[in-house]
Amino acid sequence: GVASTYDEPVHIAVIGGTGLQSLPGFTLAASLKVDTPWGEPSSPISILHHPSPSTGKPISIAFLSRHGLHHELAPHEIKNRANIAALRSIGVRTIVAFSAVGSLQEEVHPRDFVVPDQIIDRTKGIRPFTFFEDGMVGHVGFGDPFDTGLAKIVRRCGHSLEGEGVRLHDTGLLICMEGPQFSTRAESNLYRSWGGSVINMSALPEAKLAREAEIAYQMICMATDYDCWRGGPDEDVNVEMVMAHMKANSVNARRFVGAVLDELSKEEHTQLVLAKHLEGQMRFAGAMT
Ligand code: ADE
Repeated sequence: GVASTYDEPVHIAVIGGTGLQSLPGFTLAASLKVDTPWGEPSSPISILHHPSPSTGKPISIAFLSRHGLHHELAPHEIKNRANIAALRSIGVRTIVAFSAVGSLQEEVHPRDFVVPDQIIDRTKGIRPFTFFEDGMVGHVGFGDPFDTGLAKIVRRCGHSLEGEGVRLHDTGLLICMEGPQFSTRAESNLYRSWGGSVINMSALPEAKLAREAEIAYQMICMATDYDCWRGGPDEDVNVEMVMAHMKANSVNARRFVGAVLDELSKEEHTQLVLAKHLEGQMRFAGAMT
């Protein structure tokens, strides 16, 4: 069977969302069951190997399926602290997260990719959202909720695939709502009036916890629907619509993530991948390992 331990630290992780529950094309080197003070993560962590594009040496990355191996966890049931703490405990300092999103703008077509640069938090405060509690006080900066250095690499990789049918929007305002119900038409229009580009239920508290854990984090979004603002009730988002577009464009989603991993595994990005620039955000990271 597959190994259940892995001795080397793994610095790069992918958190897969709906429609990206695995990363075929990589060799499964180990499957880790990690426990944390915040419970078990959404799925075992797969350690995947692939040859570095520059040296040919195998590089290892971690893959975690946000909704579980069989999509059994709804957005509000995800143990985000366990996910982030588990990844951090195996050495992860850079996360590329993937998410299906609704589009709030005409020009963001279903199957387009968006690399968001801002978030508005519309979760309801009912998900555990911080590692700082019980006497541990900490405030991290979140003015740029995504890692700007990582974002540049992600955008470059996305554009390199334009010839293969990847359509990419370089920036975007992501609305993260509570769910699991989709928005009302009034809410959808409110978010449009705020300048929202896309909407999901998964970016938070994931991105906040990653920042607290001093992990560089960027989300790649793929539009699967126009939520409910655009057409009549017949055209409103539903789960089948989300799944169908994800499935239809999963090859591009995997290509995109694969290209980012190839790039990040180059020697020149070591400092970025190790998130040296985030050190000191959290003085109690030891409590997580
Ligand atoms: N995920 C995919 N489409 C969505 C939508 N319209 N609203 C919230 N989350 C989504």
